Amino acid sequence: MTTGAVPAEMPTSAPQRVLHVAAEVFPLVKTGGLADVVAALPVAQTELGADVRLLLPGYPAVMESVRGTRTVIDIGACFGALRVRLLLGRMPGSGLPVYVIDAPYLYRRAGGPYQAPDGEEWPDNLQRFALLGWVASHLAADDADPAWVPDIVHAHDWHAAMSCAFVAEHLPTRAASIFTVHNLAFQGLFPMHDWSLLGLASRLMSPAGLEYHGQLSFMKAGLKFADRITTVSPTYAQEIATHEFGCGLDGVIRGRGAAVSGILNGIDEAVWNPATDAAIAERYDAERLAGKQACRRALQAELGLARDDAALLVVVVSRLTSQKGMDLLLAALPELVGQGVQLAVQGTGDPALEAAFRMAQQAHPGRAQVHIGYDEARAHRLVAGADVIAVPSRFEPCGLTQLYGLRYGTLPLVRRVGGLADTVVDADEAALAAGTATGFAFDAATPGALLKAAARALALRAAPAAWQRVVHTAMAQRNAWAGPAEQYLRLYADARSAKVGGGA
Ligand code: ADP
Ligand code: GLC
Repeated sequence: MTTGAVPAEMPTSAPQRVLHVAAEVFPLVKTGGLADVVAALPVAQTELGADVRLLLPGYPAVMESVRGTRTVIDIGACFGALRVRLLLGRMPGSGLPVYVIDAPYLYRRAGGPYQAPDGEEWPDNLQRFALLGWVASHLAADDADPAWVPDIVHAHDWHAAMSCAFVAEHLPTRAASIFTVHNLAFQGLFPMHDWSLLGLASRLMSPAGLEYHGQLSFMKAGLKFADRITTVSPTYAQEIATHEFGCGLDGVIRGRGAAVSGILNGIDEAVWNPATDAAIAERYDAERLAGKQACRRALQAELGLARDDAALLVVVVSRLTSQKGMDLLLAALPELVGQGVQLAVQGTGDPALEAAFRMAQQAHPGRAQVHIGYDEARAHRLVAGADVIAVPSRFEPCGLTQLYGLRYGTLPLVRRVGGLADTVVDADEAALAAGTATGFAFDAATPGALLKAAARALALRAAPAAWQRVVHTAMAQRNAWAGPAEQYLRLYADARSAKVGGGA
C-alpha cells in the first residue's frame, strides 16, 4: 500500500474514528496522570482532524457531569448487573463525545474508581472492568452503536485491557486495538476461579493467554492481544523489556518485539500554563519572571515557611509511595534542611510514609511543610512558587509533574529513569556550557545520590545568572500534546493497514 503525496503534517488521509477506553478522566475522576492524559490526548487528536470518542464507566461523578446524555442501547443484564445501558453525551469543558456505561450496581457507589473508602480494592473489580472492555468490543463490532463504529480501540492500562482480548477473540471487527501501559506495576490480577465470568474460550486460561502465575491477569489481555502496545516514554518502553523493570512481564513484552513502542506524554497547556493559570498568585512567563518571585513569596507565606529569598525552595506533588522514591527523600530530608533547603510536600499514599512526613514537619518547623491530601489548586501554587520540583522515582513511566515544573521554570530534580530521563537534561558542566541544561538528574536510588544532585542545585542557585539561563531553557521546552497526538494517529494508521494487510 502506498501513501502517495501526503503532506508531512497530515497524520492520515481520512479522519480516523478512535475510541479511547479508560477508567479515569480529569477533572471528573482522577487518581494520577492517567486522568490527565485521557482528558487531553483525545482533544489534541480531534484538533488534528480525527473523530474521537471516550468510553467511561458511569461512576457518580461521571453521571453527574457528562452533559446531554441519551440512551444508545439498553444492554440489559450482564457481569452481575441487572440493568446496563450505554449512554452518549459530551464531556464538560471540551465537549468531547463520551459513551458512558450506566450500570448502577457496578459503578454508582461512593469511593474511588478502584477502591472502597476504606482503601480496599472493590471485590467485584473483575466484573466492573471486564464490562468496560466488553462494551468497547461491542462498539467496535458495530452492534452497540451502528451510527459510529471505531477504526481504533485505544485501551489505557489494565482497567481497559480486556477490550483487546474481546476485540481479538470474541467478536469479528475491523477495528485495530492499541494498548497503552501507563504503569506496569498495577496489573489487575484476579483469582483464576473467576474465569467463567469472562465468557472467553478456556484455551486462553493458559500462560499463552491471560494466566499469570496461577492468576488471571487483565494486563496480559492488553499485552498479548493488542495489535500495538505503547507506553508513555521511549526509555520506559525499553525498560519494561528488562527483568529489573518488567514486573514479571518482561518476557511477554519482549515476545511482542517491534509491536511495542514509546510515545512521550504531553501536558495540557489549557490547564498548566503560568501565563494563564488562575490558581496562582501572579501570572508570569519567561519574559516576566517577576511574577514567579511573587508566587514564591506567596507560597512561603501560605505554608508558614520563613521568608527567605536565598533558600532553595523544593516541592513535591506526588503519590507518597516507594515507586516515587519518597523513602529516599525522607532519608535525605534532615541533611537537605541542614543545607538551607525549604521543603514542601503534598501527597497521599502509603500510611507509613504519610506518618513519617508528618513527623519530619514537626522536627523541622519553618523549613519542612507537609500537606497530606489531594488538592489541584494548591498543586498549581506549589509548582509555580518553587525553585525545584523533586521527582526521585525508582521507576517512572513518564511522569507529568517534572513537565509541569519545566513549563513553570521550576527546575526538576529527578532520578534518571523512564520519562524523567527523556525529559530532563542534567545541569552538568557540558550541558551548562552548551545551554541545554534544564534540571538535575542522578542515577543510584540512594539518599546520597539525591543529596549530591541537590548540592549541585544549591550551587547553581548561588549563581543567579547561570540559574536564570537554565530556567529560560526549561521554560522554552515544549511538551504540548499536538506532537504525541500526531504520533499516535500515525501508529493507528499503521496498525490498521497491518490488520487489513494481514487479512484479519
Ligand atoms: P502518577 O500518575 O504516577 O501518580 P504523574 O506524574 O504522571 O504520576 O501524574 C500525577 C498527577 O497527579 C499530576 O497531575 C499531579 O499534579 C497530580 N497529583 C499527585 N498527587 C497530588 C496531590 N496530592 N494533590 C494534587 N495533585 C496531585
Ligand atoms: C502512570 C505513571 C506516570 C505517567 C502516568 C500518565 O500513572 O506512573 O509516570 O506519567 O501514568 O501516563
